[in-house]
Amino acid sequence: MQVSEIAYGNWITHGSQVEEEQATACVRAALDLGITSFDTADVYAGTRAEEVLGRALRGQRRAGLEIFTKVYWPTGPGRNDRGLSRKHIMESIHGSLRRLQTDYVDVYQAHRYDYATLLEEMMQAFADIVHAGKAHYIGVSEWKASEIRAAYELARELNIQLVSNQPQYSMIWRVIEAEVVPTCEELGVGQIVWSPMAQGVLSGKYLPGQPPPAGSRATDEKSGKDFIARLMHDDVLTRVQELKPVAEQAGLTMPQLAIAWVLQNPNVSAAIVGATRPEQLRDNVKAVGVKLDAEVMKAVDAALDPVVQRDPALTESPAQRP
Ligand SMILES: NC(=O)c1ccc[n+]([C@@H]2O[C@H](COP(=O)([O-])OP(=O)(O)OC[C@H]3O[C@@H](n4cnc5c(N)ncnc54)[C@H](OP(=O)(O)O)[C@@H]3O)[C@@H](O)[C@H]2O)c1
Repeated sequence: MQVSEIAYGNWITHGSQVEEEQATACVRAALDLGITSFDTADVYAGTRAEEVLGRALRGQRRAGLEIFTKVYWPTGPGRNDRGLSRKHIMESIHGSLRRLQTDYVDVYQAHRYDYATLLEEMMQAFADIVHAGKAHYIGVSEWKASEIRAAYELARELNIQLVSNQPQYSMIWRVIEAEVVPTCEELGVGQIVWSPMAQGVLSGKYLPGQPPPAGSRATDEKSGKDFIARLMHDDVLTRVQELKPVAEQAGLTMPQLAIAWVLQNPNVSAAIVGATRPEQLRDNVKAVGVKLDAEVMKAVDAALDPVVQRDPALTESPAQRP
């Protein structure tokens, strides 16, 4: 299966930060711009994000879309409304399919590793879902290299394909490069990366020492503000400003530079971008097909080096189910 180089994801936005009309306008814009891959999760906006995406995609030719969703984070108050037990995986896929108004998802992803469940149990449940035609492929998210390898081998034994990993990856968050990427290259597993713009920080719109622009994620009281907080430090924001001349010289906007940068990694199959407005998507898709030359790559490193995270130990799942 092929995916669009840029996928549109709806974490924080659909069912929460933006009204449904605007969410639908973003999905329409994505489709008009050639984006065919859409990423969501059962947990986003307390399950409302899948509903919004399902309504926005209604009437589209299903075979022309690649829809990815995920399971792991809590979707209800009960102790079995979370994790990767067979019980929860089975209940969650049915909820997701109902909310997305589709008979199958293209990639069903384990949203983290669940240390309370045997890998054999998780993989058997995923295999049964694939064999029942409710998902075509499986993927994982934020799993360590050793976990991906073990799951990949079990998937082969169960006659299903583990095709992708969904990690955080951006110019400032490079923790997959040392271990996850080499392992996945060897196995033939692609990265479908999240927050390629570091939640908007790499767009350069957040200025050090100044309040965030109105309507941006950093002002979203529902959940966005809390999630972006860990990136909103003046040392990061100051360094990011140094990318402005680099982007200008490359003939790109800052968001385009950030997205093009992750797409230079040959193991990256797609960058999942978020967007609160159609014009952001129109800006962002221009990163497709851009080749950054060695000088630009060097200038990015020189600007950001002190604030880049590279430690592979930062790829982690909760020690206990949330
Ligand atoms: N697997 C996981 O654990 C995991 C975790 C997080 C995300 N994800 C996936 O990855 C997707 C993307 O994550 P993300 O939303 O953090 O990605 P991102 O692309 O780094 O950030 C997107 C946000 O940046 C701002 N933005 C986008 N384009 C812009 C532009 N051209 N100019 C200025 N600002 C712009 C928008 O926020 P404002 O307009 O509000 O500022 C937008 O919502 C999610 O939707 C989800 O599907 C997965």
